[in-house]
Amino acid sequence: MKHLLTIDRLGVDEITAILDMAESFIQPDGRIQAIQPVLAGKTVANLFFEPSTRTRTTFELAAKKLGATVVNLNIEMSSTKKRETIKDTFLTMLSMQCDAIVIRHPEAGTAEYLAQLTDGVSVINAGDGAHAHPTQALLDLLTIRRNKGEFSKLSVAIVGDILHSRVARSQLAALKAVGVKDIRIIAPPFLLPEDAEQMGATIYDDLNTGVKDVDVIITLRLQYERMEQGLIKDEQEYFQQFGIKQETLKFAKPDAIVMHPGPINREVEIASEVADGAQSLILQQVTNGLAVRMAVMQILIGQQPLPA
Ligand code: CP
Repeated sequence: MKHLLTIDRLGVDEITAILDMAESFIQPDGRIQAIQPVLAGKTVANLFFEPSTRTRTTFELAAKKLGATVVNLNIEMSSTKKRETIKDTFLTMLSMQCDAIVIRHPEAGTAEYLAQLTDGVSVINAGDGAHAHPTQALLDLLTIRRNKGEFSKLSVAIVGDILHSRVARSQLAALKAVGVKDIRIIAPPFLLPEDAEQMGATIYDDLNTGVKDVDVIITLRLQYERMEQGLIKDEQEYFQQFGIKQETLKFAKPDAIVMHPGPINREVEIASEVADGAQSLILQQVTNGLAVRMAVMQILIGQQPLPA
């Protein structure tokens, strides 16, 4: 495993090994701690061509906890503004002897393209257009496993803007890989991709029917940055139909957990009382992201290969 570009290329054993390693960093008191500074002497560069709070910061913290040096390229102040191409920016960063490049870019396929430009340096996809966000899916799996156990027995519903969501695509691949049998997508038809029927999930356009007896509800933000203008006519109406409200939870299992990759938009896809409520694991997902990103970097550049 040289790069992490999509979930689709990982088998269940590789995913399980990443989750197990992430678990090993979580102390009994919940603190995330490295066992050894296995990335001492290594350099990790964060290249984020789109805004990020969770992903960029947890990659930075994860690399530092493992002893690496971290460079965060400020794209707004970089030579991108002088028309330097992504290829040339990437090759320039490689010339600074980086060992891993974490890349977020609005164009699908960017991480894959950059990975083909290098033999020795690891490329980690931190989100490319509406295509993939593999570490988000891995941290979501870790959160589900730590709270719900055995994947094969679970019913999981993903709710909202599936069409523009790289998170949903990676989650679907991850849930299928670990053996979740009952995967549901709940969305209005105009927020479903054309290939929705082939995504390996049961499709619902009614929220309360879709969440019936599920163990896990994952809700998604309306991703306006990738959306054609005017697609959402009325946010309040969307909230009424597809927002996760306290009364929505009555249809799910009583101990169902609520997740969201963040950032959340309160009273749009999730009510504040649910986001801040006892069943919400939204902030735990962020913490688990730190452990998962440590595991990914330890495996990719820390000479800790996955079991064959
Ligand atoms: N979930 C996620 O990718 O959040 P950020 O955009 O804050 O990184």
